[in-house]
Amino acid sequence: MPDGEAGKRWAQALAEWAIPEPILARAPESPWGFPPEIFATNARDEDTPSIRRALEALPDDGSGSVLDVGVGTGAGSLPLAAKASHITGVDESPNMLETFARAADEAGVAHDEIQGSWPEIAGRTKPADVVVCNHVLYNVAELGAFALALTARATKRVVAESTDVHPQMSLNRLWKHFHGLERPQGPTVQDAINVLKEAGIGARIEHWHRERAQRTADRQLIVAFTRRRLCLPAECDPEIDRLLADTSVFRPSAMSTIWWDAP
Ligand SMILES: C[S@@+](CC[C@H](N)C(=O)[O-])C[C@H]1O[C@@H](n2cnc3c(N)ncnc32)[C@H](O)[C@@H]1O
Repeated sequence: MPDGEAGKRWAQALAEWAIPEPILARAPESPWGFPPEIFATNARDEDTPSIRRALEALPDDGSGSVLDVGVGTGAGSLPLAAKASHITGVDESPNMLETFARAADEAGVAHDEIQGSWPEIAGRTKPADVVVCNHVLYNVAELGAFALALTARATKRVVAESTDVHPQMSLNRLWKHFHGLERPQGPTVQDAINVLKEAGIGARIEHWHRERAQRTADRQLIVAFTRRRLCLPAECDPEIDRLLADTSVFRPSAMSTIWWDAP
């Protein structure tokens, strides 16, 4: 299905986050990607609106199945293990899948992993009671098709958690400081809802605030991750450290749980 106006606006707003070529050309390492070390050390939330919406759609006898798209280290699906007998993790990153597999073993839940990019990989996945997709939407230019593929794999419900604003916005002041560059302000979660609506998905949304003191990742890892995102050399670490101040910078606290039931 070709994207409509809201879909095109969403894709355009995301394209504006492209890093200017001269900065990219001087980058010591690729600014993209998600290091599992950072995500694995996050304290795992056990009671959020996203977890509650997913749990209420799983059968009470513990036989439920979950498909987690963009699983990362499993933060969106492992808290569902009490009601899920099986979790499938999908991710582009083999490192993330390895970390997820280890964490799922520790949680004692049956699991499998499928490496690839959603929705292209969707045909290799089996339907699940609940499909979760947390903190991935801002990575996806063709959001309508992406979300419809989530619906097609859910027998009961889709739950997608997202920050209210683009997660990279927290680094805008550092981009200005180091590169003199103004970064975009959008898109927002409301823009995502508009794209879903245009795709025929009547999603519901619940806004909430994540607590700040949940990130436990080593400070050095956070500084190195920031340096990489900002295309800077390691010499800038002390200045990044000083400017970052608060390690919650990567975890904007305004969050949304978006969910819709399978047709
Ligand atoms: C910000 S992390 C979130 C991980 C996890 N869902 C969480 O909430 O902690 C985003 C993850 O989605 C993966 N990802 C991004 N776009 C994807 C796509 N189109 N298909 C599959 N995985 C994707 C990334 O590799 C990364 O592991």
